[in-house]
Amino acid sequence: MNKSKSIIFVVSFLCVGIQFLSAQININVDVKKPGSPVQKTMYGIFFEDINYGADGGLYAEKVKNRSFEFPQSLLGWTTFGKVEVLTEGAPFPNNPHYVRLSYPGHDEKRTGMDNEGFFGVTVDKDAEYRFSVWSRVPTEASSIRVEIIDESSNIIASQKLTIDSKDWKKYQVMIKSSKTVNKGRLRIFLTSKNAVDLEHVSLFPVDTWKGRENGLRKDLAQALYDLHPGVFRFPGGCIVEGTGIEDRYQWKNTVGQLENRKTNENRWEFTFPYRFFPDYRQSYGLGFFEFFQLSEDIGAEPLPVLNCGMACQYQNWDKETAHVKVCDLDTYVQGALDLIEFANGDTTTEWGKVRAQMGHPAPFNLKMMAVGNEQWGSFYPQRLEPFVKAIRAKYPNFKVIGSAGPSPDGKDFDYGWQEMKRLKTDLVDEHYYKDPQWFLNNAARYDKYDRKGPKVFAGEYACHPKNRKNNFEAALCEAAFMTGFERNADVVHMCTYAPLFAHVDGWQWRPDLIWFDNQRSVRSANYYVQQLYGMHVGTHVLKTVADKLPLTGKDGIYASSVIDKSKNEIYLKIANTSDVVKNVTYTLAGLKAGERKGTLTVLKSDNPDAENTIENPTAVVPVTTDLKISGNTLNVELAPKTFSLYVIKL
Ligand code: AHR
Repeated sequence: MNKSKSIIFVVSFLCVGIQFLSAQININVDVKKPGSPVQKTMYGIFFEDINYGADGGLYAEKVKNRSFEFPQSLLGWTTFGKVEVLTEGAPFPNNPHYVRLSYPGHDEKRTGMDNEGFFGVTVDKDAEYRFSVWSRVPTEASSIRVEIIDESSNIIASQKLTIDSKDWKKYQVMIKSSKTVNKGRLRIFLTSKNAVDLEHVSLFPVDTWKGRENGLRKDLAQALYDLHPGVFRFPGGCIVEGTGIEDRYQWKNTVGQLENRKTNENRWEFTFPYRFFPDYRQSYGLGFFEFFQLSEDIGAEPLPVLNCGMACQYQNWDKETAHVKVCDLDTYVQGALDLIEFANGDTTTEWGKVRAQMGHPAPFNLKMMAVGNEQWGSFYPQRLEPFVKAIRAKYPNFKVIGSAGPSPDGKDFDYGWQEMKRLKTDLVDEHYYKDPQWFLNNAARYDKYDRKGPKVFAGEYACHPKNRKNNFEAALCEAAFMTGFERNADVVHMCTYAPLFAHVDGWQWRPDLIWFDNQRSVRSANYYVQQLYGMHVGTHVLKTVADKLPLTGKDGIYASSVIDKSKNEIYLKIANTSDVVKNVTYTLAGLKAGERKGTLTVLKSDNPDAENTIENPTAVVPVTTDLKISGNTLNVELAPKTFSLYVIKL
C-alpha cells in the first residue's frame, strides 16, 4: 500500500467511524409529565397587501381602479368615444370620481371603455361572474353592453343593462363565460344616444370563498384555512405605516359601505425592482370587517396591527418630523379604543353598530392588538406609551403587543425589549429574515429567554437562502428552528411566517408562503412546514432530550414533542439537517406496553434548491404513511435532509 492509498484508507475509515458514531441517537420523551401549555395561537398567519396579496390576489375583484380614484383617474382603463371623468353629484363622498359615457356624435361611432384587470381579467369557461355598477342617467333612460373579451378582442361573454334612473342606483347582471381566458378585458359600450354615469364598476366571480358577494378567491382562502392557523395578523407589515404618515393604514377607512371606503396608496406601490409604474393601490374592499370575518372563518384569533403615529422608518429613517408628535396622538389612541368597540362592542355602541350594520351583530371577541409594526428607537416607546395606558385603563384584560424592531439582536433590539418590559406589553413582536445557517444556529434562541417578562410573538420570520427562493433548504431550516418555538412554548406564544402571498406577475419580495397567478396557486415547501406545525400544535410540551440535553442541532438533529391531551395523541417533530442517515431510538417514558397506531409524515428532497412552482406544484410535498408502535420504544431511521412528524395515538 503506498502512502497516498493508506491516507485514503485512514480517512475513509475515520469517516465511516464518525458516521457510525453519530448515527445512533437515543431520545427520551417524557410522556407521563406534560410540561408547559402550548397556546392555541402558537402558529398563525401574517397577512399583508404586498406582492398583490389583497387587490389582485385574495380579494376576488377583477376590476382595477373600479372607483376611478387612482391619482390618474382612468389608470387601468382604456376609453374610446366620449368619456369624461366628473365629480359633481357623486354618490360616494369619499370616492368622488365617476365617468360619463356620452353619444360619440355619429351613429356609426362608439363610446365606451375597457378595464385591464390585475394582470388581465381572467375568467373560466362556464363560470358565472357578477357584473355590478352604480349608475344614473343625466337625461333619459339609457343602456350599456358589458362584454368580456379575450386576448384577441373576441367577445366571450356579453350582457345588456338598461339604466333607467336619474338617481344613483346599483345595477347588476350575471355573465357566463364561453371560454377560459387568462389575459382578457372587461369592456363596456354605451348602446344608447342618451348618456350614462358609471361609478364603482365591479366584476366578481360568483364562486368565492363561502359564496360571499364581496368575496375572496376560493383557492387562496382555502389555502389559509388548510394551515389550521391559531392567529391571523392583519393588515401587515410596513403597509400599516405608509410611505408617509398620510398614507398609513387607517382601519376606519376600510369599514362601512364598500363603495364609500376611501381608497389609498399602497406602501409597496413604489418598491418593485422591475415595475416602476405606480398602479398598486388599496381599494379596501378587503378591509377590517372582512379580516375579522376571515379570522372567524379559518378559526384563528384576529390580531390587528395599528399605526402608532409613525410612518415607515425605512422610508423616513430618523426624521422625527415624518411622525406624529406625541402630543397629537389622541385620534390614533382613540382609533385603537374604537377598534376594540368595533370588534367587541354591543350593537348599541357607535362602532358595534357599524359592525352589526355590516352583517355581524355578534362580537368578534377580539383579545389583542399590536400597536406599531416594526418600529425601533426612542420615538416608538414614546408613542406606544399613551396607547398602552389608554387600553389598560378601559380594557384591563386586553393584550397589547409591542415591537422589538426589524432585527433579532443588536442595540435597537435590546433597547426595544427593555422598553417593552418597562411598558409591560403582553407580548413583543420579533422579526427575522435570515439565512439558513442563522436559523440552524438559533434553534436554542428561546431556551434562555426571561420567563418573567413579556411573551414572544415571532411576528415575521422566514429563512432567506441566497437565491431568495422558497426552496427546500429554507423550509427544512425553518422546520428545525421551529422546534425551538415549540420547546419554549411557555415563552413563545405566537409565530407567523412572512410574507404570505405573492403574485407571480407582480411581486416585490420573496420568499413568500403561497404563490399564485390569476388562475392557479401553489403552496411552497415552507407552507407545508407551517401546516405540519399548525395541524399538530398539541396542548402541552413534552420534555425531549438526548443525553439530558434538548436537541438543538448537535449532529444536525433538531427535535421537540408535544402532547394533545384532548385528542390523546403525541406529536414528535424531528429534523435531520445532516447529510447522513441517523438512527434514532425514541423512548416514550410513561407509555404502557401494547400496540399503538400512528402515522409518519416526511417532508424531504434530495435537492436543497427544489421548489414548488405553479408549473410543478408538488416538487416538495409531505408524504404520510401508517405506523405501528409496540411498547414505549420507537426505532426510526431518519434519511438525510428530512423533517419528520410522528403522530402516535395513546
Ligand atoms: O414582510 C415584509 C415586510 O418585512 C413587512 O412589511 C415589514 O414589517 C418587514 O420589514
